[in-house]
Amino acid sequence: MSPLPVDLGSGVVLRRYEMPDLEALWHAIEEERERIAVWMPFVEGVRTIEDERTWLETVVADEAGTGGGGLWSGSEFLGGVGLMLGPFGIAGEIGYWIRAKHEGRGHITRACRAMIDIGFEELGLHRIEIRAGVDNARSRAVPERLGFTYEGIEREGSRGSRGFYDLAVYSLLDREWRS
Ligand SMILES: CC(C)(COP(=O)(O)OP(=O)(O)OC[C@H]1O[C@@H](n2cnc3c(N)ncnc32)[C@H](O)[C@@H]1OP(=O)(O)O)[C@@H](O)C(=O)NCCC(=O)NCCS
Repeated sequence: MSPLPVDLGSGVVLRRYEMPDLEALWHAIEEERERIAVWMPFVEGVRTIEDERTWLETVVADEAGTGGGGLWSGSEFLGGVGLMLGPFGIAGEIGYWIRAKHEGRGHITRACRAMIDIGFEELGLHRIEIRAGVDNARSRAVPERLGFTYEGIEREGSRGSRGFYDLAVYSLLDREWRS
């Protein structure tokens, strides 16, 4: 059974995506395109609502539903948090974005906490990673706030609208989270 939905407080719920979310997701991506494309490589591949539909169909078909979901306040889409699993069930990587008007309220930090609980408790992961652009201060603040350990720089490990950029790599181990 899917561990979602999770109530994040402040009227915000983290829940699995459903096909009827397509319009809201597409609208949010269109509105935020320029801002998030700087850091998020997926944006370049989402040119039309049909591209987004293809992605959504894949996510909805994943019945385990452990890969994350959307943050919603009623029918309003605020942003998304994903947990991508690596091989052999050892590690997972969290990624996130939120619409500008909902930034700075702790929603993403709370959603990450929920995904970390799921990763360690439900999925039995040993390690959770967060990679953020070295110059992406708001993104780096999330793992730092959550007690992740900074490991170093992954050179040009991601690509945004301004080209390849270096990533700051953070990790958290299951025993560290439980303590
Ligand atoms: C990266 C990003 C998701 C961070 O969003 P965010 O809103 O800053 O993150 P949080 O939801 O954790 O909010 C933290 C802020 O809420 C405040 N806050 C309020 N209540 C809080 C709470 N209960 N817990 C934590 N923070 C809280 C914090 O003080 C902080 O504000 P500050 O930076 O002004 O001090 C966002 O900037 C974004 O979408 N950027 C564009 C896309 C992107 O870069 N994605 C990441 C790619 S790696």
